[in-house]
Amino acid sequence: MCGIIGVTGVAEPLAVLLAGLRALEYRGYDSAGVALVETGGSELWRLRAAERGRSIDKLASEVVAAPLDVGAAIGHTRWATHGAPTEENAHPHLDCSGRVAVVHNGIIENHRELAAQLAAAGHRFSSATDTEVVAHLVEEERGAGAPLAEALRRCLPRLRGDFALALVDAGSPETIVAARRTAPLVVGRSDTGAVVASDIAAALATTRNLFLLDEDQVAELTPGAIRLIDAAGAECSPRPLAVSWDVAAAQKDGHPDFMAKEMAEQPLALRETLLGRLEASGATELEELGLDGPVLKAFRRVVLVACGSSYHACLSGRNALESLAGVAAEVDIASEFRYRDAVLGPDTLVVAVSQSGETLDTLHAQREAKRRGATTLALSNVVDSVMAREADAVLYTRAGPEIGVASTKCHLAQRAMLGVLALHVARARGALSDDATRRHAADLLGLPDAVSDVLARAEDHAAVAARHAAVRDVYFLGRRDGFSVAAEGALKLKELAYVRAEAYPAAEMKHGPISLIEPGALVVAVATRSGLWEKVMANIAEMRARGATVVAVATDGDAETAAVADDVLLVPETGPLAAPIVEIVPLQRFAYEIARARGNDVDRPRNLAKVVTVE
Ligand code: G6P
Repeated sequence: MCGIIGVTGVAEPLAVLLAGLRALEYRGYDSAGVALVETGGSELWRLRAAERGRSIDKLASEVVAAPLDVGAAIGHTRWATHGAPTEENAHPHLDCSGRVAVVHNGIIENHRELAAQLAAAGHRFSSATDTEVVAHLVEEERGAGAPLAEALRRCLPRLRGDFALALVDAGSPETIVAARRTAPLVVGRSDTGAVVASDIAAALATTRNLFLLDEDQVAELTPGAIRLIDAAGAECSPRPLAVSWDVAAAQKDGHPDFMAKEMAEQPLALRETLLGRLEASGATELEELGLDGPVLKAFRRVVLVACGSSYHACLSGRNALESLAGVAAEVDIASEFRYRDAVLGPDTLVVAVSQSGETLDTLHAQREAKRRGATTLALSNVVDSVMAREADAVLYTRAGPEIGVASTKCHLAQRAMLGVLALHVARARGALSDDATRRHAADLLGLPDAVSDVLARAEDHAAVAARHAAVRDVYFLGRRDGFSVAAEGALKLKELAYVRAEAYPAAEMKHGPISLIEPGALVVAVATRSGLWEKVMANIAEMRARGATVVAVATDGDAETAAVADDVLLVPETGPLAAPIVEIVPLQRFAYEIARARGNDVDRPRNLAKVVTVE
């Protein structure tokens, strides 16, 4: 998974390209590259760098050698799938003549087969990527006389897999052609220019006049114009895209990194997500959902599917749906759900939870659910994301763009949104008393303040993290919603600090993992009064008896928990829906501080990407 940007007809195309690549770096940062077509000389100029995390800086320092008179230009930031993260494998990739350049996000599944056919026809390959076949396929069609857009259109049926592609050709100095299947790509035009990009944020510097591309359509961008053809070659009109984010929302605003900024934005993300959707009376307003009361009442089962942090949000979402709405609910990891022959039907609502709305495993799980006759609901942070467009119903978290690879504000917003959904379904089913509804609403509405309160304790929480910065193995324990918090805390520590961290339902430790506990092991236990506190206390005692050091996430004023823990991460008392959301915040800080103490790049942890568009 990678980021694509292309511009034509803009002033300072290289500066726009590099800024776009920086905005897209969250999609991958193994290497970066650009290809430009010189307007007068019809030459193609390419520059690539593979210096993990510093590639764009390297490009910026070397673009002085670029031609001055540039027409179309494309750029790419890579998360390596096929082929090591080297300069040879960095995009753009060229055809044999060096006149066609392609950038690609996704995977061409049948690339080996295509490469063998192309090699037999005399094509020479210079990378180990799946992408390069596209340049050679287009070269063949160009050789047969097809204009660039038509050449790409003819190639698409031969490609298997998921992709977003943008190409330039030295023979058409001001033209970019682009196409997508599953992977995201937006196109836009200004009065004099045009842009193609993997996401809205990267395109916004050029224009707000953006459009969606449907699968297998080909867009031809020329200065000030977009022409679209469908798979059959017929001209069609682009669908406008509503844009609400602005470029400023994707800057660091004085924070040392995006993760710090995004953690600080959590109260706002929660406020925006709850706004207009939940009243103090408990009344919910989710008209946007498009599923009315009788429909919600008719479901006999809800299945939540997601990956990574979004999956952890679903663990609590399931609990809320069962306990508030009394509807059978289950949760599965999207990549497992997709292949497990789940028994689904019209009585099942499948909720696919994804910040990006484009995680391939979740997208395919959603498609599989639809294929099996379930109603699908996408819960996404990105408006008009692929999943949002394909689902029967959509709910948006309103956390704004999240750039840090490790999800923070979007994760909290997902949990809050699932809480509202559970209340909404509960009301539709008449499952809760008015009193209970009001209590839960107050709990959720108090979230922005409660999370602000936790953020204000950053120094205390950082001091605890500093005491454990050298840790090597950590066990995160919790029960019920506390387990979902433990799972998220462990993931954060793993992905940011590169520390071995495992999460277990606390009582499950005694069925095996407890044999790993010896003096020096660190246990982080979610032991607030909101959950199964007494039970967790007993589990903590089991760990201490074997020599573990214990850090407890505990409720303000809880002397009993403080007495059995070596350190406490205190949080204010809340009701059960807000509790897991509040409890995660100190664990984010814990991972953040340990990662920074070890000199890690928290925004771009090694081997990870924010949006995973491969299986
Ligand atoms: C990646 C990110 C995680 C994220 C997961 C699911 O692994 O690094 O932070 O939770 O994808 O992403 P989604 O966009 O589907 O929520």
